[in-house]
Amino acid sequence: MRGVILQENGPIDTLGLGEIAAPVSTSDEILVRVHAAAVNPADVKVVTGEGGAGFIHAMRFPMAVGFDFSGVVEHVGPEVTSRAVGDEVFGHLAYSRSTRQGSFAEFVAVKPASVGIKPSSVSHEDAAAAATVGCTALQALRDKGGLKSGQRVLINGASGGVGSYAVQIARLLGAEVWGTASAAKADFVRGLGAAEVIDYRSTPLVSLGETFDVLLDAAAMSSFADTRHLLNRGGAYVTLLPSLSLFGGMMLSLFNNKRCTFVTVQSRAADLDQLGAWMATGDLDASVERTYSLSEVGDALAALQSGAVQGKLAIRVNG
Ligand SMILES: NC(=O)c1ccc[n+]([C@@H]2O[C@H](COP(=O)([O-])OP(=O)(O)OC[C@H]3O[C@@H](n4cnc5c(N)ncnc54)[C@H](OP(=O)(O)O)[C@@H]3O)[C@@H](O)[C@H]2O)c1
Repeated sequence: MRGVILQENGPIDTLGLGEIAAPVSTSDEILVRVHAAAVNPADVKVVTGEGGAGFIHAMRFPMAVGFDFSGVVEHVGPEVTSRAVGDEVFGHLAYSRSTRQGSFAEFVAVKPASVGIKPSSVSHEDAAAAATVGCTALQALRDKGGLKSGQRVLINGASGGVGSYAVQIARLLGAEVWGTASAAKADFVRGLGAAEVIDYRSTPLVSLGETFDVLLDAAAMSSFADTRHLLNRGGAYVTLLPSLSLFGGMMLSLFNNKRCTFVTVQSRAADLDQLGAWMATGDLDASVERTYSLSEVGDALAALQSGAVQGKLAIRVNG
């Protein structure tokens, strides 16, 4: 199959279009013809081999790159009953050292429980863009943070992929949302529903004179130790990357009334179906700033790496 292939780790221009064997679905998997994908910081880590790439992909070369996908079921294994050929589905490949395929390619083979049904009114580009970041935001806020209607949440890094979805999802869960972003992206974050947007460059997070029930560090740039005074009693700090300061924070949280936790995103049918339903009703905007072709994946990753992106970048794979 045709795909964006990595022969060895290196800078982003190491990537090139090429041919690679299509994944073979097992008896309890579905084969999906990919129509669209989306880029994430994880793709940059996989290409460069830095930032813990070996924990999120098997890294067996040559390999196709990419995690998010949306497409059409081409084949179902004999044990699969919940999905049928022709279903339009979306999701992301597991961030796991056992993952040996990539979504910037014509096919992915996945378990049916890891994909949601894409509503017909939602484009493949929007669905692919939502997969990783939407599941991350939902699982971080609802499952790890325990965010409830009427509570207050602070999203650090509200203009990025996870952050832009977290602002909207927190609003949909009934919370009052504050966010941090660089000044140039403040209007974008306000447009997503944030009540207040703080420029993290002029107002350091630690100096905010406000308290919240949940602090989601979508930029993975802070620590529980430095920010726990921003949490109400019983509040939760949720971050996205494991680190020494996270484990220090978890220890510290054992001795006070605030929680420190992190999320590892899972591609779950029920969560993806919820994201699809919100997008179909117009309650959740996919925030796709631009769509690139398969041959332009390197440009999309370079744009993401530059920090200039607001929201998400999608990739058109088929069609
Ligand atoms: N644990 C998991 O399962 C999981 C899932 C998804 C992602 N992640 C990780 O989470 C991180 C964010 O992912 P993403 O897709 O949202 O990335 P992204 O789209 O590149 O967004 C990064 C965000 O960080 C903000 N930022 C940069 N420097 C900052 C600072 N000093 N203080 C506060 N905010 C700052 C940016 O704001 P401006 O652009 O306004 O400067 C932007 O909003 C990545 O490291 C990714 O690998 C983890």
